Amino acid sequence: MDKKVLVTGGCGYIGSHTVVDLIENGFEVVVADNLSRSNPVVFEGIEAITGRKVENFAGDLAEPAVVSAIFEKHPDIAGIIHFAAYKMVGESVLEPYMYYRNNLNSLLNLLEACKQFGLQNFVFSSSCSVYGNADALPVNENAPIKDAESPYAHTKQIGEQIIEQCNAAYDLNYMLLRYFNPAGAHPSALIGELPIDRPQNLVPYITKTATGELEQLSIFGNDYPTEDGTCIRDYIHVMDIAAAHTAALKTMLTKPSSEWSRVYNLGAGEGKSVLEAVQTFEKINGIKLNYRFAERRAGDVIAIYGDNKKAREELNWELKYSFEDILKSAYDWEVALKEKNQ
Ligand code: WQD
Repeated sequence: MDKKVLVTGGCGYIGSHTVVDLIENGFEVVVADNLSRSNPVVFEGIEAITGRKVENFAGDLAEPAVVSAIFEKHPDIAGIIHFAAYKMVGESVLEPYMYYRNNLNSLLNLLEACKQFGLQNFVFSSSCSVYGNADALPVNENAPIKDAESPYAHTKQIGEQIIEQCNAAYDLNYMLLRYFNPAGAHPSALIGELPIDRPQNLVPYITKTATGELEQLSIFGNDYPTEDGTCIRDYIHVMDIAAAHTAALKTMLTKPSSEWSRVYNLGAGEGKSVLEAVQTFEKINGIKLNYRFAERRAGDVIAIYGDNKKAREELNWELKYSFEDILKSAYDWEVALKEKNQ
């Protein structure tokens, strides 16, 4: 393929796994990550896995000059995969302005650059949270977009609408990839989820409780109208998510837009409750986890899981990892991290 791709947020969790998959599929990758929510040590992991040192532009994409400098140095960028955004549901409820400013300004600058430099192919990191509390499950791409349950989800809804308007105005090729709950780590345990502060997502909180870094997991609510009273989510291995981005870009670069869609759900296609995740983690890793049931968390939807049929059929993409693989690889990564930091 030997095409050059700009991956914004490429030092982040999903971004770094996608960089590895792109390189292993013959792409040349340039990263733009201001390291505000990621650790440059991730680049060492990418190099250890792929043998490639990846160039990173560490400026803030919310500054137009930072974006122009990237395209002036690399006018041959064939596609952009835009991950760079804040993504914590709970935090966005407390800091809405920070989320709207960061997530939307960086997107607007990149879209401006696409127009200025004539770049056609734009893959947007969106989220199942655009569906809000979906009426029917599994949710497919035609499900109505309901009121966002958090400012984070709202920035993804607005981002999708901005991109659609840019396509209408000047024919920007784009795909909106709506992730469900990415989790797990690269099988080598050389890269994985690396939250800068205390993790807000379930799986890293579980693994850090299991290694003793954190004292106890709080399960936010066990009085929901679900089988065991805890929320339901669609956990998908980060490696499957990464492969879907490579498949999406390959599709955009090799097939006419009449042969693919604009929106794809990236989920495993089944719902697992928080308690199921805890119990499966204990079983697969032979560990007793210290947890308690606590109050519900603002911004949480009760249940959501996706229908991934369209992505599987149109992007030539298949899931390779199971729910158990997610929880095993996440723990293996956490143990490796703890050993490295000792
Ligand atoms: C999952 C469940 C919590 C932590 C994530 C990403 C978001 C988007 C959607 C991609 C919820 C419960 C959590 C804890 C808990 N992904 N939980 N104790 O909120 O679904 O959002 O997926 O775009 O970017 O953040 O994921 O892992 O925070 O929560 O009980 O300590 O686990 O209440 O029910 P969420 P999460």
